[in-house]
Amino acid sequence: MTTEQEKRAKELRDLIKNHNAAYYDEDSPIIPDVEWDMLMKELLELEEQYPNLRKDDSPTQNVGGSPSKIFSPVTHRVPMMSLDNAFEIEALQQWKEKLERKLEEGTEIGNLVCELKFDGLAISVRYEQGRLVQAATRGDGLVGEDVTHNVLTIADIPKVIQGAPPVLEVRGEVHLRRSEFRKLNEEAKKNDGKEYVNPRNAAAGSLRQKDSNIAATRNLSFWAYQLGEVAEGPNLLSHYATLKFLSSLGLPVNKNAKLVRNTEGALDYIKEFQKVKDSLDYEFDGIVIKVDSLELQRELGNTAKAPRWAIAYKLPPEEQVTTLLDIEVSIGAAGSATPFARLDPVFVGGVTVSTATLHNEDQIKEKDVRPGDKVIVRRAGEVIPEVVGPVLSERPKSLPKWEFPQNCPSCGAKLERPSGEARHRCNNYSCPRQVRGRVEHFAQRTAMDIEHLGEQSIDLFVSKGLIQDIGDIYSIDFELVRTFEGFGELSVTNLRDAIEGSKSRSLGNLIFGLSIPHVGRTNADLLATTFGSMQSLEQVSHDELQSVEGLGPVIATSVYEFFRSPTTLVVLEKLQSAGVNFQGPEKIELPQTLIGKSIVVTGTLERYNRDEAAAAIKNRGGKSPGSISKKTDALVVGNNPGASKVGKAEDLGVPTINENAFEKLLSTGVVPQ
Ligand code: IVH
Repeated sequence: MTTEQEKRAKELRDLIKNHNAAYYDEDSPIIPDVEWDMLMKELLELEEQYPNLRKDDSPTQNVGGSPSKIFSPVTHRVPMMSLDNAFEIEALQQWKEKLERKLEEGTEIGNLVCELKFDGLAISVRYEQGRLVQAATRGDGLVGEDVTHNVLTIADIPKVIQGAPPVLEVRGEVHLRRSEFRKLNEEAKKNDGKEYVNPRNAAAGSLRQKDSNIAATRNLSFWAYQLGEVAEGPNLLSHYATLKFLSSLGLPVNKNAKLVRNTEGALDYIKEFQKVKDSLDYEFDGIVIKVDSLELQRELGNTAKAPRWAIAYKLPPEEQVTTLLDIEVSIGAAGSATPFARLDPVFVGGVTVSTATLHNEDQIKEKDVRPGDKVIVRRAGEVIPEVVGPVLSERPKSLPKWEFPQNCPSCGAKLERPSGEARHRCNNYSCPRQVRGRVEHFAQRTAMDIEHLGEQSIDLFVSKGLIQDIGDIYSIDFELVRTFEGFGELSVTNLRDAIEGSKSRSLGNLIFGLSIPHVGRTNADLLATTFGSMQSLEQVSHDELQSVEGLGPVIATSVYEFFRSPTTLVVLEKLQSAGVNFQGPEKIELPQTLIGKSIVVTGTLERYNRDEAAAAIKNRGGKSPGSISKKTDALVVGNNPGASKVGKAEDLGVPTINENAFEKLLSTGVVPQ
C-alpha cells in the first residue's frame, strides 16, 4: 500500500460521504447514481486489497444517510440493512458459490426469490395489536427517522390490519409512481417551484416533510418485501411464504416476485425484466435475489452492512456522464436541420454511444448544454440515446452558450426556422446533403431497394455532379463511372442491373422513396392502394386527401403540397420517362392478421407515427381504440408512454409490448410473449 492509495481511499470516503449527504439527507443528488456506484466500487476494491484502509467510518461499513435533527429518532429493533451489489452476471454465480462454501458441505442453497429492486425509500412500519403505531426511515440502518405522520397519509398502507400478530414490523419501499412524478413536476413547473430529478428523490422529499399535508397530496405508493420484528407470528419457512403472508394481510406486495430454482432461473428473470423496465409505472434499478429458505438465511447471516443471503444485481447503467465534444447539425433528406451531440464515446445501455440527437434549438436552450460540458447521456431499452442535461457542477468557467448556426453546414444556404415550427430547415433543394439524403432514402431496401448504390457511391456521384435529384439515378453515365477509381467492370454491371431492376418496384415503394415530408412506409402504401397510380396522386385534391381514413391532416397537406411543387414534377417526369413503374397495386390486400383484435398504442414509436400505427392495425383488420379496456389484446409501448395507460394495462393484465414485438404481431397476429 502506498501513500497514493491511502490518499485515494480518503478522497473516496470523503467524496462518497458528501454525495450520501446530498442524496439521503437533502434528497438532491449531485451526481448520477452510476457515478456513485463507480466511486463505491473503487473504494470497496481498494479496501478489499488493503484491509488496513477499511476504516470504521468508511461508507462501505455504514448504510445510507445520517439521522436528521428534524424528526425524532427511532431505533430499529432489527437493523435495516443494505444490499451488496453485483454489476456483472458472473458475480451472481460467484455469490452463490461463496454461500455454498459457507454452509456445511453438501448443503444446497435451493430456491431463490427474484424481486425487483424498487427505486424508492426503505421504511419500516410497525403494527401493534393490528394498529399502525410507528413508521421510520432506514437512516443509518440502526436509527431512522420517525415519519409516522407522513406514512399515515399513504393510501396503499393499511392503518389497521385484522388478524395481524400482536407485533408486526413490515419493511418495504415507499415510492412515487412515474405518472404521479410527472404530474408533480408539471405542477411545479407551472408554479415555478422546484422540480425533482427523479421519482425516488420526489418520494424521499415528500416523506421527509414536517407537514403531513404535503405527503398527503403526493399519492405515494408502497411495496412490502420483508419482515422486521414479529411477535407470535406464523411459523414461516421461506421468503416466498413471507411475501404471501404480507399479501394476505392486505399489504401491497409486487406481483413480479418470482420463485426460481437456481441462478439460471434468476438470469432468465433478469433478462425478462430488463426488457420491460421502462414500461412499468414505477422505477426499479436492479433485481434483488434472495435465498428462499429462512433457515438458510439465518445460517448465512450478515456482514456489517448487508445480509449474505441476498444480492442486488444492478441493471447496466442507462445513464452515463461524458464530455460533449461539439454540437453539429445534420441535414435530412427533406432539408430539416437537426442538431446532434458529438460525444466522447461512452458505454451506456449496453452499447457505445458517440452521437445523440438534440432534436432542435429549443431543446438545446432548455437543457442549456454547451460544447465542453460534461453531460448525462441516457439510453434506455431500445430507445435512441439522448442527452439529458449538463452536469453543472463540472462546467468549466465562462463556457459560451451554443448558438444555432446561421448557415447550412453542407451548402452554406441560410438556415430558416419557419414561424411556429421547432425545426430549422435548409431550403436549398439542391443542397448536396439533401440530395444525398434523398438518394439514400430512395435506394434503401424498404423503398426502391437498389443494391450496390450505397452511401459511398452516392457521395461520389453527388459530388461529381452525376446525380442532382433521384430522377438522375436512371440516367447515370456509366461510361464516366467506369473511369472512377474502384469501379471495375463487374461493379458497374451490378449497379446498372440493380438500377434497372428497381424500375419495377411497387407504387408504395416508389411513393415512400420520394421523401415526402411525414410520409412513412405505411402511409405510402395507403396512398398507393387508395389512389392506384402516380398520375392520380398528382391530381388529387386536398379534400380528397383529407378524407382518406388513417391519413392525418398534417400528412394530407404535406402530400398535397409535395405534388404541387415544380421540382417534384421535374423529378416525376424523369422517373416516368425512365420507365419506373407508376401503376398502383392491384389493391394490395394485406394479410388480415388482426381480425377481431384490439390494439392500443401509447408513446412515440420509432418507425410509425400515430396515424401510421393505427393504419397498420386497421389495414390488417384490427381495431385501434384510444383507451384500454378488458377487451384490449395488447398495449404497444413506445418512448414516453402514457403512464395511466401502462398502469391500467397492468391492472387489467393486458400484455405490454415494444415496437419490435408490435411488428411481429402485425405479421403473425399473435401477441409475442
Ligand atoms: S430487501 C436486509 N428487497 O434496496 C435487506 N430491498 O440496497 C433488505 N430495495 O434498503 C432489503 N427493493 O431500500 C429488498 N425487493 C427489495 C428491494 C429492496 C428495493 C432497497 C431497500 C434497501 C436497499 C438496499
